[in-house]
Amino acid sequence: MRNLNLKFLRSAEQSLLGGMALASLTAACIWLVLGPAPEIADYLIAVVLLFALFLASLIVMHLVGNSRREMEAALVSRASAELQAIQALRASEAQWKEVFEHNPVMYFMVDADGIVLSVNTFGAAQLGYRVDELRGQSVLKVFFEADRDAVRQSVEICLANIGQPHNWEIRKVRKDGSTLWVRENAKAVRRQDNRLIVLVACEDITERKEAENALRQSGNYLAEAQRLSRTGSFGWRLVTGEIIWSDETFRIFGYDKAPSVALDMVIQRIHPDDRAGAQQTIDQASSDGKDFDHEYRLLMPDGTVKYVHATAHAVTDASGSIEFVGAVTDVTARRQAEEKLQQAQAELAHVTRVTALGELAASIAHEVNQPLAAVVANAAAAQRWLNRDTPDLQEARSALLSIVDDGNRAGEVIQRVRGLVSKNTDPKVPLDTNEIVNEVIALLHRELFSHRISLRTELAPALGPVLGDRIQLQQVILNLIINGIEAMQPVTDRPRELVIRTQQEDTHQILVAVTDCGVGLATENANRVFDAFFSTKSGGMGMGLSICRSIVESHGGRLSACGNGGPGATFQFGLPMHLEDQTP
Ligand SMILES: Nc1ncnc2c1ncn2[C@@H]1O[C@H](COP(=O)(O)OP(=O)(O)OP(=O)(O)O)[C@@H](O)[C@H]1O
Ligand SMILES: [Mg+2]
Repeated sequence: MRNLNLKFLRSAEQSLLGGMALASLTAACIWLVLGPAPEIADYLIAVVLLFALFLASLIVMHLVGNSRREMEAALVSRASAELQAIQALRASEAQWKEVFEHNPVMYFMVDADGIVLSVNTFGAAQLGYRVDELRGQSVLKVFFEADRDAVRQSVEICLANIGQPHNWEIRKVRKDGSTLWVRENAKAVRRQDNRLIVLVACEDITERKEAENALRQSGNYLAEAQRLSRTGSFGWRLVTGEIIWSDETFRIFGYDKAPSVALDMVIQRIHPDDRAGAQQTIDQASSDGKDFDHEYRLLMPDGTVKYVHATAHAVTDASGSIEFVGAVTDVTARRQAEEKLQQAQAELAHVTRVTALGELAASIAHEVNQPLAAVVANAAAAQRWLNRDTPDLQEARSALLSIVDDGNRAGEVIQRVRGLVSKNTDPKVPLDTNEIVNEVIALLHRELFSHRISLRTELAPALGPVLGDRIQLQQVILNLIINGIEAMQPVTDRPRELVIRTQQEDTHQILVAVTDCGVGLATENANRVFDAFFSTKSGGMGMGLSICRSIVESHGGRLSACGNGGPGATFQFGLPMHLEDQTP
């Protein structure tokens, strides 16, 4: 076009010159032919005019030529600038195409119906396709069936808000069926042909999503484990007083989940009887910042009581401030089971006590009979002293005193038997072990006598007290003595002797040992005698020693058995001594 203009200018310039020359010649010829015969001067004028005309033509032609060359030069430089711009545009386009194709981001260009107009090579490859496999296809092809409605909706949102970016996270499905998580950033634009298209840039977020899922899953596992173990976790930052609870902790304390927890909420839930103790633990932890371990009860709004065990570890962060990381376990079920077990054990102990007393019925009757017989004899004597002509009041008084003593003795035996038969267990009080031993022996004189057993007691004087349940400790000694008596039953070749010893071992414990010279302990049975239901006796239940051991252990002691140097066995238990400053 520009060349055409230039050519046109050049031919216009030539035509102008030719036209002017022709017009001059034509004018001269017309003048010569038609005009009056010219004078010589006229010729000269004509020649001069022609020459001037020619000169003027040349000048005009030169001027026109100049402006043509200038125009030509301007056009050439403009054309070359345009060429350069086109080349730069092409280079930039190629560059951007390169970026578009290989930028590690997936790009899609879809029309308003969701048909893929364009996809970059990287994006197609990321989905396992070639570009031509996706171009012209519905973009829904690369989405899971279940997600397609969401995609349609998102595209509609873009189309309804032209030029507004809209983004969402979604799964894409690769050609091989595997999943790719992407964050799609899309925008609808109107093209020159007035068609709407949607440009979509997709960032691969699979790794992040997988990490999030793994985190969520492990969080779910943790929550499930917390629920199953009834153990909640908590964090307590001392400086800020900020407390964080896990879901299970909220459940244990019976509060709705909340972003923050106040210490007051904890205190409020604690059973009024345990509040002071819990507050003390909290105050102590706040001041010394050391690990703590505490068990307390919660009083729930519906009046039920929960037992919880809280344990916390102090952690110091980089800034030096202390944070407690801990666990709260709902131990109600365990506590209830323990209580039931204790109840069952107490009932079993009671049954065995009653059984043992049943076996001792003859001895007990004898123990009661003896003082009663003495009462009768003394009453008769007192009568005699009073019936004398001169009543001997002195003797009568002494006989009556003996009656009172014997009556008390009989009463004590009955009281002991009633104690052992009773279902109740006494609270633990400081006790004299020798006294307990003697109380049991008082029931067994006849039993020992009828089995021809001599009893020797070596009771250390002035023993320190032990903290215990009188009836339970009586039962232990009673069981051990009965076992000793039974173990000596087959012995015929040596004297049957039972020795009961008590002694104080330094300031810490009181030892009680029952030694017999019976059949002794067979090596293979030595470890089994304390097992429940282990018995070598035809009518034995095998519960005696097992009950003894649990009673001794509940008193903080230990029961053991060993063979003697000679025949027989020794059963011995130690109980911690009760120190004055220990509250019962
Ligand atoms: N002094 C002892 N000498 C030898 N063996 C003993 C002695 N005391 C207990 N044993 C052994 O330990 C076993 C268990 O004793 P335990 O008192 O628990 O049950 P038991 O006496 O058999 O029956 P019961 O439940 O009626 O007391 C006895 O059967 C016996 O074999
Ligand atoms: Mg027994």
